Amino acid sequence: MKNLYLQSISLMKVVTHSEDLDSIQTMLHSNTLALVPTMGALHDGHLQLAQTAKELGYYVLVSIFVNPRQFNNPSDLDKYPRTIDADKKKLEAAGVDAVFIPQLEDVYSGEISDITLDLGELDTVLEGHFRPGHFDGVVQVLYRFFQKVKPQAVFFGEKDLQQCMVVKKLLNQYFANIQYFQVPTVRESSGLAMSSRNQRLTDFGKQQASEIYKVLLMLKQQCQLGVFQPDTMINLLKQFTIETEYLAWVSLPDMVPVNANNYKEHNQQALVFAGYLEGVRLIDNLVFEVVNS
Ligand code: PAF
Repeated sequence: MKNLYLQSISLMKVVTHSEDLDSIQTMLHSNTLALVPTMGALHDGHLQLAQTAKELGYYVLVSIFVNPRQFNNPSDLDKYPRTIDADKKKLEAAGVDAVFIPQLEDVYSGEISDITLDLGELDTVLEGHFRPGHFDGVVQVLYRFFQKVKPQAVFFGEKDLQQCMVVKKLLNQYFANIQYFQVPTVRESSGLAMSSRNQRLTDFGKQQASEIYKVLLMLKQQCQLGVFQPDTMINLLKQFTIETEYLAWVSLPDMVPVNANNYKEHNQQALVFAGYLEGVRLIDNLVFEVVNS
């Protein structure tokens, strides 16, 4: 049993230069390459993306690259957890086929140049508003990864809901042949959405942070009745030392705020949250359908 495990973990291919991606593309005769882009500091949410891709029969390549261009706050970039050895072990154990860990020059100093992509409101509301330039950084790095890796499918976590909407726009405009998969948020048993940034919270902080999901669940019940009173919830979160940056009820895919008068015009909606706890920025959301009565 032990030998089998060792054999299976040694099969994961580690690619550190984008030229070496060719060998994977050549080896795969059928159209079965899936890319799971990450910035490392992997948790079960990331592993769930890889596992979902694996279950669908894809050859799974996970990329690990902390992309400086998407950090609007330099201290957030400095503090972003980097746990590359542990990450590789987790991916090996999860049966991932290959990991791509490029250097900064490899990603940004090739022949691929920046693209323009009209993100509409997505660039100015919520994350777009509070993290100027963030989505442009995400778009530029993903454009490069999609060009280099040439996947048939890509997998993204719903926890970064606005990013998911941005990725769909990128695929629509530039990569119509890549299939998009959105995987539901993986949560701790407390309800706290898994995130690499949770590593920076104390155990007590993690306990406090689990209130965010409870608040979203309570608000969802109200929204389905056409009522939205976020202030009470923002005050409640304050009691758990959580400072809300935004708490909004929005329609999908544009993520524009809805209200009691117009919410029934949109089938797919979401409650979205961003805030700070112990100096760590946390986001979460709840996606739901409105049943028209
Ligand atoms: O979600 C992330 O970890 C990053 O934004 C991504 C998609 C890997 C791009 O750098």
